Amino acid sequence: MKDEIELFIGKELDTDEEEYVDGSHSRAVFICGKRGSGKSYSMGDIIEEVHDHTQGVVPLIVDPMGIYWTMVSENEEQQNSLWDWGLQSRAYRVNLLVPGNPKERYGEEVLSEMKRRGLEVSAIKINPSDISPDGWCDLFDLNINKPMGITLYRAIRNLSRQQGNEFNLDDIIDTVEGDAQSNERTKEALLNRLEMSRDWGLFSDTYTPIWDRLDETSLNVLDLSVVDPGKYGLRNLVVSVLCRDLFKRRIKARKREELELQVDVPRVWLFIDEAHNFVPSGESSLSKDILIRWVKEGRQPGVSLTVATQQPSALDHDMVSQCDVILCHKITTREDIQELNRLSQDYMSSELKTYIQKLDRVGQAVYVDDEDESISIVQMRPRRSRHGGGEN
Ligand SMILES: Nc1ncnc2c1ncn2[C@@H]1O[C@H](COP(=O)(O)OP(=O)(O)OP(=O)(O)O)[C@@H](O)[C@H]1O
Ligand SMILES: [Mg+2]
Repeated sequence: MKDEIELFIGKELDTDEEEYVDGSHSRAVFICGKRGSGKSYSMGDIIEEVHDHTQGVVPLIVDPMGIYWTMVSENEEQQNSLWDWGLQSRAYRVNLLVPGNPKERYGEEVLSEMKRRGLEVSAIKINPSDISPDGWCDLFDLNINKPMGITLYRAIRNLSRQQGNEFNLDDIIDTVEGDAQSNERTKEALLNRLEMSRDWGLFSDTYTPIWDRLDETSLNVLDLSVVDPGKYGLRNLVVSVLCRDLFKRRIKARKREELELQVDVPRVWLFIDEAHNFVPSGESSLSKDILIRWVKEGRQPGVSLTVATQQPSALDHDMVSQCDVILCHKITTREDIQELNRLSQDYMSSELKTYIQKLDRVGQAVYVDDEDESISIVQMRPRRSRHGGGEN
């Protein structure tokens, strides 16, 4: 039997008993609550616990607000509270993954100050060959049955057949230009889009495995706040390419583990804040399929997931219903309470919404664990490292 790994999240409100999440195997945690109710803070609690207590599990944080880099510093503001809880503040090693060129994204002064504070900053670029022909068409919102979509699909498919991983944006442009089956107007419109995508500054010229950018000893924070959330779904693109690669590698690694061969691909615990942007309900997104697969099939490759959102009803129900741990902070909108109430289980003595009504302070949450069939109201523990999401 595997050793029990207990992730300390807080104390039960009535009894003061310590509450833990079992982290000894793959988990899927769902955190929700209205604005300012403590979701990002609680996510930080779990990140700290995963880093401190699980060996060979690497935290990767998808950070659309750009707030988790502050974990590189101790929580100095809540020293008293940490003291009351018998906890000590601490700083973490943070590997900040920046899509594109960090100097351009932050400016020179901010970047050097971040480095002075101990952050490691790694640029991540996307290999054009890591995006499928369908993915390319989705990116430009092209129908694969219409001329532009057909041309782009054909170009990517041919390049990957002929050159495998070894092609870049210039090669795609050249291939489209030389496509004898498409008419000039179609090609010109497509080339405009491809040229424009150069300005995103996201694509790499030579193939670099995205996996190499992760640091196993650090908290890996993917700062998406520097990427325009606009119409091309570029944030989703980055998440999708990264997660596809990680998932694929873990599936291969799992085979090796079963054969007792050496494995150099650690398990990943993915944390996604503002998750409704990546797995929206009722619409597709570039990252949705892989993230749903991650949560549904994650046990086998040994990957975990924690998602946080202020709008449970805006997060795909398939994702929500797969989560085996729920941390629900204060929530008031009827739609969202209804969505949560759908998750009520037989072992609960009353509906989830009656528990939610009892919450009255920031940092309190209804904690449901499907594995233990338990439900309680928890005061989440103070953070060891600095929380970056507070208001000014
Ligand atoms: N367990 C806790 N203990 C002490 N303070 C907390 C706790 N949880 C949250 N807070 C405080 O509440 C504030 C809001 O928390 P947080 O940023 O996590 O909210 P949120 O739910 O993520 O909000 P948003 O929807 O705006 O992202 C933080 O500044 C933090 O200081
Ligand atoms: Mg938040």
